[in-house]
Amino acid sequence: MPSDMTLEKHRVIAIDGPAASGKSSVSEKLSDHLGFLHVNSGIMYRAFAWSVLRSGIHAGDARAVVEHLHEIQMHCGVSGDKATVTVDGVDPGSELKSSEVNAGVSAVSQVLEVREVLVAKQREYLNVADIVMEGRDIGSVVFPETPYKFFIDASIEVRAQRRSKEGIIDDLAARDAIDSNRVVSPLVASDDAVVIDTSDMTIEEVLVEILDHLYHKGLNQLDEK
Ligand code: CDP
Ligand code: CDP
Repeated sequence: MPSDMTLEKHRVIAIDGPAASGKSSVSEKLSDHLGFLHVNSGIMYRAFAWSVLRSGIHAGDARAVVEHLHEIQMHCGVSGDKATVTVDGVDPGSELKSSEVNAGVSAVSQVLEVREVLVAKQREYLNVADIVMEGRDIGSVVFPETPYKFFIDASIEVRAQRRSKEGIIDDLAARDAIDSNRVVSPLVASDDAVVIDTSDMTIEEVLVEILDHLYHKGLNQLDEK
């Protein structure tokens, strides 16, 4: 279904940006503030990468990755005000953030067929509710017609510090390089996205700046919870 048809039913706020720029933190607060559903598209790519790795497939083996895509059942649903993902009925839980998934997720995410399947699932969420969706290509590819687009950035030094504070092993530079240079749907700030450099900002400050832009773009305060 073309995404412009679903936009007639619900609104979507697109939050894109590189790893550890603060997308999840601000998307959670924003969705809570507005009463929108929070959908982290990265979780879908991570769940698929987790399944690929668990099956003993090398993340860089595109042919085996596509075969695997057609063998599994991925279900993207909703629980409370959060989006959920299962693969063959299993929720990977904290394994989604493992160092193995961090190391393999960008390789599987550059495969065209994987993106086609997951983008279709992302668009289906607009049939359910108004959403805040975070990722890499939400404003550029998944919902290009939404008027509400943000590109959240921060310096590589600040982002690496944030991840290491979380105690997570994650080669951000390697992931950035694959995500930004892939042929299909690379990480880019759309021309019409508001770019926010969060290097010296708290999450609250980022939230206030986003809300300010949304009100100026006509997202009415009365729509809030
Ligand atoms: O939270 P973090 O920014 O570290 O990563 P994520 O949003 O969970 O995304 C994990 C990986 O999934 C990214 O590095 C991309 O390779 C891929 N991804 C993508 O290609 N497109 C999206 N819309 C979301 C994630
Ligand atoms: O979703 P993404 O990978 O873009 O980033 P995140 O998971 O929201 O944020 C990564 C870490 O940076 C978290 O521990 C946040 O608390 C922290 N953070 C911060 O200190 N200041 C910000 N403005 C944004 C995030």
